[in-house]
Amino acid sequence: MASSSYFNSFMIFGLALAMTVAPLAEARAFFVFGDSLVDSGNNNYLATTARADAPPYGIDYPTRRPTGRFSNGLNIPDIISEQIGRSQPPLPYLSPVLKGHKLLNGANFASAGIGILNDTGIQFLNIIRMFRQLDYFEEYQRRVSGLIGAQKTSELVNKSLVLITVGGNDFVNNYYLVPFSARSRQFSLPDYVKYLISEYRKLLMRLYELGARQVLVTGTGPLGCVPAEMAMRRTNGGCSEELQRAAALYNPQLVEMIKGLNSEIGENIFIAANTQQMHMDFISDPQAYGFTTSKVACCGQGPNNGLGLCTVLSNLCPDRDHYAFWDPFHPSEKANRIIVQQIMSGSTQYMTPMNLTTFLAN
Ligand SMILES: *[C@@H]1O[C@H](CO)[C@@H](O)[C@H](O)[C@H]1NC(C)=O
Ligand SMILES: *[C@@H]1O[C@H](CO)[C@@H](O)[C@H](O)[C@H]1NC(C)=O
Ligand SMILES: *[C@@H]1O[C@H](CO)[C@@H](O)[C@H](O)[C@H]1NC(C)=O
Repeated sequence: MASSSYFNSFMIFGLALAMTVAPLAEARAFFVFGDSLVDSGNNNYLATTARADAPPYGIDYPTRRPTGRFSNGLNIPDIISEQIGRSQPPLPYLSPVLKGHKLLNGANFASAGIGILNDTGIQFLNIIRMFRQLDYFEEYQRRVSGLIGAQKTSELVNKSLVLITVGGNDFVNNYYLVPFSARSRQFSLPDYVKYLISEYRKLLMRLYELGARQVLVTGTGPLGCVPAEMAMRRTNGGCSEELQRAAALYNPQLVEMIKGLNSEIGENIFIAANTQQMHMDFISDPQAYGFTTSKVACCGQGPNNGLGLCTVLSNLCPDRDHYAFWDPFHPSEKANRIIVQQIMSGSTQYMTPMNLTTFLAN
């Protein structure tokens, strides 16, 4: 007994030593694609106005400084990283720090302002549109192949977790950006939704072709209930019916499309998060989740604190945990935590066909 426990502690000591010497690679690489809800700083490296690189963004981040995340603190990929036991979230792909063996932990390709369609967010000029994010994923794999070889690279991608969050901007920064927008003259809302879903399907197929095998796809939030839309559309405290109609058409069709893809491939490659329902829970009963309000942004100005950008000149709430929305469009860290909790372990009302904990255990 004594000698075996001595042996065990010797082994553990040896292991700990090995871990401090070897470059730490996470158990599973994590890749992130999409828009501002998941951008962790790529836009800081681009000539665009769609960036969160100035205070008070990041006021509750561990460093208390802006990072490019559209949050007071952590965003959804950060919290998922934490929940799946990673030591760090993936770095922005454009970060000069992301090189060498750090690449093996994954990368975040997301870019604020982008949509499923290339013409979404054109006012933000130089942002990384979806097709480009996927091109970068290909480039990433070539770079990693140079480090560890093609076989190990495809295993790394095969075992990785992928998160994709896109679609909201195709409504707020395209179809509904201005009255009589080009897309709204081209398509009725139901036809536009069908077009978006068919284009999204192509993006997901390309992810699959690039080797992704466990992909978490989030729907849009309740687009009409964000403080920005409530303020701009002067809804008198209610949600914008038109944008709610868009989200109500889009989200169920996204789930159906994902079910169809899985059955076509013959495997559950994609899981869908009903982010609309996750948000509606705390929007319809903010107090039950510890919020004082879901109608007023913490940082902003004008009605609902919902107009313009969040800057040092904006009204800023003292306690961000009491607000469901940090700025006119983006949830607070506290709200992001509630959303990730449901992604991790929610019932089939929230997650189709299964939650992330079950997905990753398979
Ligand atoms: C977006 O642009 C790229 C590059 O020009 C093109 O390959 C792709 O088909 C476009 N996507 C859509 C949905 O038009
Ligand atoms: C990739 O993952 C699938 C399971 O989705 C497995 O069947 C396949 O053998 C894996 N391929 C490699 C190269 O690891
Ligand atoms: C979701 O995940 C948990 C594990 O955290 C599991 O016990 C539970 O059964 C799952 N819920 C559903 C309804 O799938």
